[in-house]
Amino acid sequence: MALSAEDKCNVKEFWEKLGENTKVYGTEALVSGSLEVQAHGKKVADALSLAVNHMDDLPKALSSLSDLHAHKLKVDPVNFKFLSHCLLVTLARHHPGNLNPEVHASLDKFLSCVASVLTSKYR
Ligand code: HEM
Repeated sequence: MALSAEDKCNVKEFWEKLGENTKVYGTEALVSGSLEVQAHGKKVADALSLAVNHMDDLPKALSSLSDLHAHKLKVDPVNFKFLSHCLLVTLARHHPGNLNPEVHASLDKFLSCVASVLTSKYR
């Protein structure tokens, strides 16, 4: 499921509105976890900011992270869906006005594209 030009535009514009807060939201999305898990939230936020800038070639931009999660960490792929959902809910809470249905759908697609790249090397 490729991102359309409109999806890319929606995601980019929305992400720009988050400004410096992305790390805070990344942490908050995982707030019920341990401190290490919350620290991972910040890393996720940074990686997503990078992904937003490379939406035309996510597999290349996320290649080393994909190796890490699949080969080294062997994270169960189902967790990417949970994390994406937590992120979406957190962003919706903080930016209800900016997350209209179109932006919501584009962001959902974007997170699912990122998750699919990060889980592409499992087999
Ligand atoms: C959108 C999805 C995700 C992104 C963008 C992401 C991003 C990252 C980044 C940037 C790192 C640090 C890499 C480094 O230090 O070189 C990392 C590490 C890690 N990730 Fe993820 N991750 C995602 C999903 C997940 C999920 C679903 C899990 C497990 C439930 C997970 C578990 C880990 C673990 C255990 C580490 C190593 C410890 C750490 O650095 O905190 N990740 N991830």
